[in-house]
Amino acid sequence: MATALCPGSFDPVTLGHLDIIERSARHFDEVIVAVIRNPQKTQSLFSLEERQEMLKEALAHLPNVRIEFFYGLLVDFAKEHGAEAIVKGLRAVSDFDYELQMAQMNQRLTGIDTFFLSTAPQHSFLSSSLVKEVARFGGDVSGMVPKHVNDRLLERFSTRED
Ligand code: PNS
Repeated sequence: MATALCPGSFDPVTLGHLDIIERSARHFDEVIVAVIRNPQKTQSLFSLEERQEMLKEALAHLPNVRIEFFYGLLVDFAKEHGAEAIVKGLRAVSDFDYELQMAQMNQRLTGIDTFFLSTAPQHSFLSSSLVKEVARFGGDVSGMVPKHVNDRLLERFSTRED
């Protein structure tokens, strides 16, 4: 049984993430969406529980996908769960340097391979950070995230002063 990890912060999940996860689920028997909980990622908008709820709703149609949190090194989490691959989306050349570096480091640490999927062109500009910035100042991100995520963003920024 081939298991792959789709790791990330998912703060919040976007349609770009979902596209990569859905396509991964077609190629692997099992996909674990690995949500990082490391302390250096403290500047998050949504709590881990909120991110999990949003992912759960967005991925409910995929029976071979589950969501887990991880702490520490991704390669250790992969070992614990018997995952043999990491799948990442590449949006543009600008992603490539850092993603290649991480893939090579992870390969060096445990031999795990990273598979890169090219992001669908309609999502190539999308990132959780930009979505948050646009939503924070009232921009329309409804075509960039699932409806329930858009609702949460609207709710969050209608009750925050920053
Ligand atoms: O959504 P993000 O924030 O771009 O995801 C980055 C993530 C979580 C995939 C990356 O930071 C990661 O794998 N962190 C785990 C810590 C680790 O293993 N570091 C060494 C990477 S070579």
